[in-house]
Amino acid sequence: MHIIETEFPDFGLTPEQRREAVLGHYYEIPGMDGARGEIWCYTDAYAYPPGATVNLHVSATASRYRLEIVRDGATETPVLSQDGLAAAWQDTPDQCSVIGCGWSVSHAFRIGEDWPSGAYRITLTAEGRDGNPITCHHVFIVRPLAGRKPGRVLQVAATGTWTAYNTWGGSNHYQGITGPGRNQYAPMVSTERPFCRGFAVLPESAPRVPLEIYTPPAAPPRYPHMEWAYANGYSKKYASAGWASYDSHFFRWAERAGYAVDLASQHELHFTPEILDGYDCVVFVGHDEYWTWEMRDAVDNYVENGGRAARFAGNFMWQTRFEDDGKKQVCYKYRARAEDPVYQSEDPVYQSEDRRRTSGCWEAEETGRPAAGTFGLNALRGLYVGWGGCAPRGVRGFPVYRPEHWAFAGTGIYYGDLLGADGHAFGYEVDGLDYVIRGGLPEPTEDSGAPEGLEILALGMSSLKEESADIPADDQFLSDADAKFVAETLVGNQSDESVNRIKRGSGMIVNFPRGRGEVFHAGSCEWVAALKRGDAMVERVTSNVLDRYLSR
Ligand SMILES: [Fe+2]
Repeated sequence: MHIIETEFPDFGLTPEQRREAVLGHYYEIPGMDGARGEIWCYTDAYAYPPGATVNLHVSATASRYRLEIVRDGATETPVLSQDGLAAAWQDTPDQCSVIGCGWSVSHAFRIGEDWPSGAYRITLTAEGRDGNPITCHHVFIVRPLAGRKPGRVLQVAATGTWTAYNTWGGSNHYQGITGPGRNQYAPMVSTERPFCRGFAVLPESAPRVPLEIYTPPAAPPRYPHMEWAYANGYSKKYASAGWASYDSHFFRWAERAGYAVDLASQHELHFTPEILDGYDCVVFVGHDEYWTWEMRDAVDNYVENGGRAARFAGNFMWQTRFEDDGKKQVCYKYRARAEDPVYQSEDPVYQSEDRRRTSGCWEAEETGRPAAGTFGLNALRGLYVGWGGCAPRGVRGFPVYRPEHWAFAGTGIYYGDLLGADGHAFGYEVDGLDYVIRGGLPEPTEDSGAPEGLEILALGMSSLKEESADIPADDQFLSDADAKFVAETLVGNQSDESVNRIKRGSGMIVNFPRGRGEVFHAGSCEWVAALKRGDAMVERVTSNVLDRYLSR
C-alpha cells in the first residue's frame, strides 16, 4: 500500500523561486548554459519507416560529438553508436518555436531494415568548454511498414501533445515569447526544433503532476513537478507531455507483458490512415490533447469498419491543423474565434465547411464535431483532479459502478471500489460526460454527445476551476480561466451563473460499440503511471481490453 507523504519537498528553492517555478516563464534557448557550452539536436521527422535515412540537425559549442541510439522498449537495446562526428554552432532564429530552427543537416544515418518498430532514443555527448561533458537527448519513432499485422497492437504516440507543450525556443501552445509584447503563446509551433529537457528521458526521481503529498488542512497546494523542474534544469512542461512521462510507460509495460507492439506518430494517423487497417487493436495513451480533423476521421473509419480502439488517455480537447506537410501545428485555442483566419475570414477559401476546421476546442459550435463522437468522452466535461486547487485530496483511482463488466474480469473489484488507487491512475486531466445517476448507476444525459450504446463503467469527480480559499488569487496556477472558456463554449457566456453550471467535471471509463468495431476508453492521463507502478488491477484491466481486442 502506498504511504502518502504530508510534507512538500522544497528542492532547495526559496519561496520566491518556488513562485517563479510555477508562475514564471522559463524555457530552453541557445546559449542558456553560458560558459559550460551546449549541444542540441532534432531529427527531420518524428517517425520513419525501416530503411529510411534520418537527417540529424545538431548545434553545439563543441566541434566533435558522440552519437548513441538505443531502442527504448521492454529492454534498452543499443542499435547504433558513432564517434568523432563533426558539429558546429548554428544560428537560431528568435521565433524558432514557430518557424523552426532551420539548422543545416549535420549528420545522416540509415535505419536498419531489421530495426523493430518502436521509440529510439538519441544521446549526443560532447566536451563542454569547462572540460565537463555536455549532452542532449532526442527521440524518434520507427513506424511499421504497411500490411496485415495479426496479433499485434499499434500504439499511436501523442505527438500532437508533445509538439504543443515543447518549451524549446520559448513558445508553445501555453506560454511564449510570441506576439508584439513577446508574451503570448504561439498558435503555430514547429516540429523542427529539439525537444525540451525531460521529453525523451527522465530520472526516476522526477515528480509526476498529481500530488503524492497529502496537502495539509487549509494549506495552499504546491506544484512539486514544476518546482523540481526549476531546481534541476528541466522543462517546465516535462511532466505534461513527452515520451518519457507518458507514452513510454505503456510501450514498455506492453512489451514486458508479452504483447507485440508497433509504434506510430500522429503524423501517420493524419497522412497515412491506412496504417491502422493492418491491426485488430489500436491504442492511445497518456496525455493526448491535440488532434486534427483527419486523425479523428482515421480512427472513426477504422472502428466503423471493425477496428478496436483502446484509449487509456485523458484530455481530448483541441482541434489542430497541419501546415507545411505537418512540420507546423496550428492551434489558436482560446483565441480561435478572435484570431484564427479559418473562423474569421470573409475570404471564401475559409468559408462554409472549412469553418469546421477552426482550431479551437471540439465542443465549439462552429466545429460541429463533439469530442465524444470518437472516444466517447470529452475534455470540457472532465479536466483537473489531484493537483493545484482542483481536488488535491481527491480519489486516486476510478470509482467503479459496473464491476460485472468484462473489462474488470479477474480484478476482484466491487461496486464502489477504487480501480487504480494504488498506482494513482486517476488524474491529472481526465475526460468525462454530463451524466445522471439513477438507482446508483451513472448514465450519460441525453445531450451529452455520448455515442449510442455507451456504458459508464467508472466515474470520479474532477474540477474545471481552481477554487480554494487557501490560495490567494494571484498565486493560482489553474485559476478560473478554463472554466470561463468552457462556460463561453457550452453556455454562450462567462457569467458566474454559467461558470457555476459547468465547473463540476468527471473522469470516466466507458465502453461502446460503433459500426462493426468497438471503443474502450479509460479517460485519465495517469493510467500509464499506474502501469509503470505495477498496479495489478490496472494491469489486469489493460490486459482484458487488449486480449479481447486482439481476440487472444
Ligand atoms: Fe492538457
